[in-house]
Amino acid sequence: METQFEWPHVICCQQEKFSRQWLEEELFPEARLMRDVHARGGSNILQGKRAVSLFYQQSTRTAGSLALAMDFLGGRVAFATENAREFSSAAKGESLEDAIRVWNRYRPDVIFLRYDHEIGAELAAKVSIVPIINAGDRHPEEGEPMSDFSGQHPTQAFLDLFTIQERRGRIDGLKIAMVGDLKNGRTVRSLCYLLGKFDNIKIYFVAPECAQMKCDVRSYLSRHNVQFGESYDLRDVAPVVDVVYQTRTQKECNSHFRRSRSGIGEFFLVDGTVTSKMRKDAIIMHPFPREDEISREVDSDPRAFYLTQQIDNGLYTRMALLKMMLAPQGKL
Ligand code: NCD
Repeated sequence: METQFEWPHVICCQQEKFSRQWLEEELFPEARLMRDVHARGGSNILQGKRAVSLFYQQSTRTAGSLALAMDFLGGRVAFATENAREFSSAAKGESLEDAIRVWNRYRPDVIFLRYDHEIGAELAAKVSIVPIINAGDRHPEEGEPMSDFSGQHPTQAFLDLFTIQERRGRIDGLKIAMVGDLKNGRTVRSLCYLLGKFDNIKIYFVAPECAQMKCDVRSYLSRHNVQFGESYDLRDVAPVVDVVYQTRTQKECNSHFRRSRSGIGEFFLVDGTVTSKMRKDAIIMHPFPREDEISREVDSDPRAFYLTQQIDNGLYTRMALLKMMLAPQGKL
């Protein structure tokens, strides 16, 4: 199903704009250029451009890297709130749509939005002329209005896919273990939607029954000829995969399953036992923040990228995206 959201809105990974060709021929090359721009201290290509950053839920990496991406390109975040639910008129009962309509009147060039209620980014895009970047939203619970396009974190999926491409040199044909709270994690949902644009992908959903990937993503993957299966023990799939993509338990979604070696979670931990089974050329990723689902001993493993290039690539891909949105013809 095609979406009604048009670039330069960045709402969900099914948008027509985000084709395989666009990823490989536009976003990734631009992100590589941004690695160089960043290394030489930045550029002024977004001079005079203003962002508004509305986060209704906490964020370190997404909010921080979007702000720094603006800054490294000479643009500004003119207004930012990291707790819009408390420090905006949302606390007085203002709807998201009204807030977005008002922000539109001030004519910023882009709005970064993280929303933890309802189908936030989609609602915002419907009333906004100013481009919205979905910085993470929530998938509806049963009984709430449903949407095929929510519960996503598209910029995270772009950086994750870019990291896979750069480390493994290709995406086609890869085997990927997605581990942890797949039911509530928006990063894995968005990554699945992007992987569906590539060939011969095999995904292992490694999670307890209560946290398994939802049906909407599964049916999308089936429609896009992606093979997938469930596993209940990471140690079983560790030897065959190219990527281990770990995620945390989303406690704010009332998700609780223990991950300690003594509990059910031992099947879903990344630790020395798992890394000893993994291929030499495999990589370990995590969108972060982490709790105890990757043990600290793994941090120094040369296959672990969650504290290094995955973080760097978040900045480069967001710089690339902002340049493509706000100064498409600009010369770096
Ligand atoms: C993720 C998020 O907020 O969805 N983090 C991130 O943006 N890098 C993952 C999470 O919160 O678990």
